[in-house]
Amino acid sequence: MRIEKSGRVVVGLSFGYHDSSCCIIRQGELLAAVQEERFSRVKNDKSFPKASLRYCLDAAGVTLEEVDCVAYYEDPEKKLARQIWMGCIDSADAVRRRDVARHIGAEPPQQQIRQAIGYSGPIEIVEHHLSHGASSYYFSGFDEAAVLTVDGVGEWATTSYGRASQEKLSIFEEVDFPDSLGLLYSAITSYLGFKVNSGEYKVMGLAPYGTGRYVDRLRKLITLQERGQYRLNLEYFGFLHTDRMYSDQLIELLGVAPRVPESEIQQEHMDLAKSLQLVLEESLLAKVDYLYSQVPCENLCMAGGVALNCVANRRIRQNGPYKNLFVQPAAGDAGTALGAAAVAYIRMFGERPCREPLQSVYLGPDYTSEEIHRLLAGSSMVFQDFRNREEELVQFTAERLAEGRIVGWFQGRMEFGPRALGARSILADPREGDMREKINALVKKREAFRPFAPAVLCEKSQEHFALSGDSPFMLQTCDVVSLLDLPAITHVDNSARVQTVAENYSPRFHALLRAFERLTDCPILLNTSFNVRGEPVICSPLDAIICFVRARIDYLVLGEFVLDQRQVPEFWKIGVSNRPIKKDNDPRAVGHAVYTFL
Ligand SMILES: [Fe+2]
Repeated sequence: MRIEKSGRVVVGLSFGYHDSSCCIIRQGELLAAVQEERFSRVKNDKSFPKASLRYCLDAAGVTLEEVDCVAYYEDPEKKLARQIWMGCIDSADAVRRRDVARHIGAEPPQQQIRQAIGYSGPIEIVEHHLSHGASSYYFSGFDEAAVLTVDGVGEWATTSYGRASQEKLSIFEEVDFPDSLGLLYSAITSYLGFKVNSGEYKVMGLAPYGTGRYVDRLRKLITLQERGQYRLNLEYFGFLHTDRMYSDQLIELLGVAPRVPESEIQQEHMDLAKSLQLVLEESLLAKVDYLYSQVPCENLCMAGGVALNCVANRRIRQNGPYKNLFVQPAAGDAGTALGAAAVAYIRMFGERPCREPLQSVYLGPDYTSEEIHRLLAGSSMVFQDFRNREEELVQFTAERLAEGRIVGWFQGRMEFGPRALGARSILADPREGDMREKINALVKKREAFRPFAPAVLCEKSQEHFALSGDSPFMLQTCDVVSLLDLPAITHVDNSARVQTVAENYSPRFHALLRAFERLTDCPILLNTSFNVRGEPVICSPLDAIICFVRARIDYLVLGEFVLDQRQVPEFWKIGVSNRPIKKDNDPRAVGHAVYTFL
């Protein structure tokens, strides 16, 4: 069905599992995308993304009545079939059965969409892996590409192979649940005492400290087969029958006790992380080789949670058969809203949206200087006003960074996806030996083994990092080749996960890096996300102030205003540090006081 009535507005939604999100495409252009957790302040929020939807409609300047189609990121009937199957094989476990029954009894998403927002127009259901694959291909700018999606599970598919050309994407082969590379990685993640669905990064960060001495044992967990297929050896896994990801047989096979969460990390845990990483990489390379045998072209698009493993992507870039690799920056489930919307757009209007490669992920809310000023003026905070003094603002910030201060940096539209890229970032001097410990002590309180990431002036990146091309989304890991000593951002294996900063997409951040370079001869800053451990990245100016005060960050650069920790009124410190973060889906609630919605 083709509809020719309208402003061609398609909304993409992902919700119900984890990382709910919403995006909006109008007239072929992606105008806004945001994760619900940023508004609700509930990390990995899976609830209906009502606040995100309100924001997206507002950003696109349309009302709900003008929306031509809402796209949902997976097929609920197919997913239900898998859930019923899981219930059938699992009748012995009452708790698990109840859990499955709860899923089965849940309202279908179409009904939820209509009830939550009163929408009565068309709803397009887009299969989960098609949503993932589309979120990569349609935003890659490639005409012809092979498409690989690897995640935990959606409906049934856990790995899928696709080809795309002439703007059409089709999936021609898939591996189905319970055989899943994503679940294999998650099972060992939980074995190592980290949280499934969020601790996988930590395993990747831990790996370079270890050796591959468990590789042979871990290879017993997976059998690679013809046509890109593989099977998990299910006796080592518990996720089908229990609420534990692994089985007693795995403990026996590995001969290492599962790590108790938050307990000390031993060498054997590092070795296990390294071995897992190696097994993942060799499995992925085999998948990519198979894909190339079916789709021999230059371009590879990847998506799915496993595609966020940038160390594996580096191997694929270096050792795989494809010349170019595009990974969607929100490759996990949050990004599926983009793919679902793109597919629905083509179904509705017969035309590909977003022909250009995705250049920036600054797709979230921004706030005017007037809004920020109003908030600051009403807050009794002491602040410096740099309005219309751009150079001075940048120079002042660069000087504080060069003095070794930690700076909260809040500028423009918020990033979509897991990485802070200079819009909601904490910045610091990467040359300081104890900066990692300093930031961890104040803000992040995260595991000491994880390095922070660098942001570098685009035009200077090759002097310091062995990058192949630009890395605007901080998705490429490479060797540090700099003559500078950069302990805060260099991993134990001499690698770094780099963001290259271009003037046209982040002008103020670029200017800051240049000013810092003028002062220090170092065109690089440590860049980590603006949040404290366990909370989502900040969204609004009020979130920024609360995080700045609670974490005792030295300076906060809030648009064109600067706050100094030493000048924060005492009563603010007491009030903020004791105050629970309000968990509320209403964006007009605390934390979003500045942004007003329709
Ligand atoms: Fe997924």
